[in-house]
Amino acid sequence: MRDATSLTQGLTVEAPAKVNLTLRVLGVRDDGYHDLESVVALVALFDSLVFEPADGLGLVCRGMEVPGGEDNLVLAAARVLADACRPGQGAQIRLEKRIPPGRGFGGGSSDAAAALVGLNTLWGCGLGREGLARLGARVGSDVPLFLSSPIAVMRGRGERVEPVAAGSSWWLVLAWPDYEMPTAGVYAAYDRLGASTAAPAAATAVLDHLAGPARKARPFLVNDLEAAADSIRCDRFDVRGCLERAGAAAVGMTGSGSAYFAVADTQAEANRVADAARAAGAETRVATLLADGKDQQEKPS
Ligand code: C5P
Repeated sequence: MRDATSLTQGLTVEAPAKVNLTLRVLGVRDDGYHDLESVVALVALFDSLVFEPADGLGLVCRGMEVPGGEDNLVLAAARVLADACRPGQGAQIRLEKRIPPGRGFGGGSSDAAAALVGLNTLWGCGLGREGLARLGARVGSDVPLFLSSPIAVMRGRGERVEPVAAGSSWWLVLAWPDYEMPTAGVYAAYDRLGASTAAPAAATAVLDHLAGPARKARPFLVNDLEAAADSIRCDRFDVRGCLERAGAAAVGMTGSGSAYFAVADTQAEANRVADAARAAGAETRVATLLADGKDQQEKPS
């Protein structure tokens, strides 16, 4: 989460996307949520939020369509923080949306985390990342993830986050269809289908392959929700097939879908895969991981 203060333009915080490199479902809990183990990497594709002092709480969105008004996680996060430290405080928030919603990139949760970071500064709450993460968990299961490190392991319902000191120079091709995937619906489909009897790698096995060639990661990009996501749309667009036919070294699904990602060793390879997948009908972006030390900007594909 990067922030920069300017007197004239307000306080700006950039909110990155994520991909679940792996996601294993370990079981269903008494509260209906699922216990997970997931390795998550933050990606250099950003929404931007600008915060300015105001009397009430207000949110203006530009760019890709997102739930406005009361349903937006940014306002939910703002209210949770205000209740905890500055009851009744206001702010005017501008959200520039570039992360496609409903695809498994965590944009809404990342925006909520960015709102906590920005308003914590604007309102002078003085909370540390851990305090903000505790508040974030009330807003959504994977909000705390965006207050941790560029690569992390998520456990519990997603709110227990362990930072991982790992890097990777992989390039990512992000690819998605023109429809969203309902997270709760995918988990419900997972419950109906039952767990797969196959026993693929543990979620954390991918960590041993981040520094190696992308093709070696192929067996480790497991996501237990993929069959469930597949099952809830009969007009499903085969994003995985697009990327594989485009020659991707390794492909995984992020979150509960509907987006997939391919990993590549070079920018040229990523661009080639992205071009072929786009020609086949997918929306694509080429991006780096935040953990790689390269220039942290979205790369045009
Ligand atoms: O916590 P969040 O609002 O992001 O979760 C959306 C929905 O996804 C939940 O209502 C629940 O149905 C499902 N979910 C789950 N197990 C998780 C995370 C989410 O069943 N670990």
